[in-house]
Amino acid sequence: MKETLKDLGRQVMTAAKISKNMKSYYVTTPIYYVNSDPHIGTAYTTILADTAARYQRLLGRDAYFLTGTDEHGDKIAKAAAAKGLTPQQFVDDISGRFRTLWPQLYVMPDRFIRTTDPDHRAVVQSILQKLHDQGDTYFGEYEGLYCTGCERFRTEKELVDGKCPDHGTVPEIVKESNYFFRMSKYQEWWRDYIEKNPNVVRPERYRNEVLGYLRDPLEDLCISRPKERLSWGIELPFDKNYVTYVWFDALLNYLSGIGYGDNDDWQERWANCEHLIGKDIVKPHGIYWPIMLHAAGLPVFKHLTVHGYWNFRDAKISKSSGKPIAVEPLISVFGVDAVRYFVLREMVVGLDASFSVEAMQKRINSDLANDLGNLFSRVAKLIGDHFEGTIPVANHGEPELERMLGELRGNVRMWADEMKWHVLIEETMQFIRATNRYFESSAPWGLVKTNRDEAATVLRNCVEALRATAILLYPIMPGKMTDLLTRIGEPIQNFKLEQTAWGHVRTRAKMKKGDALFPRLEETEVRTALADYIDGGKSNVTEQAAPIARAATDGMISIEDFKKIELRTAKVVEAERIAGSDKLLKLQIEIGDEKRQIVAGIALYYTPEQMIGRQVVVVANLKPAKLRGEVSEGMLLAVKWDDKLEILSTPEHAPSGAPIS
Ligand code: MSP
Repeated sequence: MKETLKDLGRQVMTAAKISKNMKSYYVTTPIYYVNSDPHIGTAYTTILADTAARYQRLLGRDAYFLTGTDEHGDKIAKAAAAKGLTPQQFVDDISGRFRTLWPQLYVMPDRFIRTTDPDHRAVVQSILQKLHDQGDTYFGEYEGLYCTGCERFRTEKELVDGKCPDHGTVPEIVKESNYFFRMSKYQEWWRDYIEKNPNVVRPERYRNEVLGYLRDPLEDLCISRPKERLSWGIELPFDKNYVTYVWFDALLNYLSGIGYGDNDDWQERWANCEHLIGKDIVKPHGIYWPIMLHAAGLPVFKHLTVHGYWNFRDAKISKSSGKPIAVEPLISVFGVDAVRYFVLREMVVGLDASFSVEAMQKRINSDLANDLGNLFSRVAKLIGDHFEGTIPVANHGEPELERMLGELRGNVRMWADEMKWHVLIEETMQFIRATNRYFESSAPWGLVKTNRDEAATVLRNCVEALRATAILLYPIMPGKMTDLLTRIGEPIQNFKLEQTAWGHVRTRAKMKKGDALFPRLEETEVRTALADYIDGGKSNVTEQAAPIARAATDGMISIEDFKKIELRTAKVVEAERIAGSDKLLKLQIEIGDEKRQIVAGIALYYTPEQMIGRQVVVVANLKPAKLRGEVSEGMLLAVKWDDKLEILSTPEHAPSGAPIS
């Protein structure tokens, strides 16, 4: 095995050999199907894993981060055929799009695995052979309901109204002779294991989901597909007429990605494996995978951490439902650091979250532009104006800020291990807000005139807080936090948590104010650039408030929609009937200085004489239309009930042309 894999020209692992005193950390994302482009949903798990790896490095661990693409199976074969491409051409293209997107999000995997990689194929075949040799597989016939979207058989119980709950499609009935893996044999072992290690699947609701699957007898897993139906897969080592079932193939990426069987490091990495997945794929990861591992004689992962969905307009963001929100436009409007910040701050791992451009803009302006960015520019400006841009010496520290920082530093490991990024971010921002209050109440801009030493102390203390914050938030915003650290004269290096302690600022380092670190985003700019993703304010609701807010806003328009309608007062100066119509009056009106003609359906209620001289309300920005050959450049507002109609009037002293808001 060792030799074969080496000969296969596999990608070389980039991580250095694990040093004895550095604990290993291994984090994975699902490998993404290449039947659609990446979107904010797939980007989320990947940002999460990248952030986890970066925090663990900050905490001194040797982190290895694996992501990649899942390239075999029915779904891909069908998508390739639909485009008139061979599966290989098709997967090369889309897999490439994932690979080029990740660096744009500062996502830096140690390896990007593809299930078409030769070393992966070798691992899959070797594990299959092992299970086959030890009698854990058998050949048999099966008939079941197959969902191509999920690439798995679904039980009747899992369907909703006969349809797959994730894809909304009716599964196909598939009847075939195939190889099966004796999953049922290990069901008891896995249930006991979870009971003894309750945290292995987290948060709790997903552990309960897994235990739910284990309540009924497990069906054995069909692990092959006949080549005559599907040839796009990894050939079974013991029967060349079959390829491997795509999930069995895909799950093994977590082993091949660390060089299973091929180097000395994989076992230590494997012993510290953290899987991150979305809630759509709990069953393959929470049932098939641990049982496959156990049967292969391997320990199970350390944790399977499950997050919820990003929803948009009440539907999961995906290719098949809702809108696949692309990441590039968000990066170009908000900037990559802010996009990472937003998704990590907004989603509580385990719960769903609503995506909204409005919420994003609000969050970035308040936390990043105001609280963090502004503090930095104010401090930098004062140091520039009064201390020649050199970070001054402090006479004393600031006990409250030092206490808060101490607490933060003490909790980082726990938050990082438990994937509580929203808490880590919020607590760090509370620290920055406290620093802002300290800056405001100390008023160093006044102190420089009366007590220069004290002004220096206040500014220096603020730089201490900014520096620690920049390191603490570096894993979330690597670009901007590096920029911030550079501006306060810190050489870029691999920071460790110890360096966030109070008192590490380099005295007399040069401070550079530069442009705004996080420029304030103007609403109109954001709205124009991301018009496609604006949801009329409906999406700006929290998960808890969502059901009520949704019911109450159904069919409503947003304030922005309403603002598009221009209502004005106008004066009718001439009025006449339109020949051949008993309903229409032709009115000449004045909206301020502007003269216009309006055709109104009011002839049954008003005579032309009654209209002349009247002040009315008109919709002034309607596109002109023709009625009975007459141009109408607006619409007059009236109240209608039973068989009555009365024109809306305005206060008499209001001038003609005044806007109505
Ligand atoms: N190929 C399988 C996984 C095999 S892993 C051995 C697969 N791929 S997928 O392309 O459909 O990606 C699924 C994953 O993408 C989810 O588990 C989740 O991590 C992420 N997400 C896709 N859409 C998402 C949302 N709308 N919200 C949050 N995460 C989402 O399943």
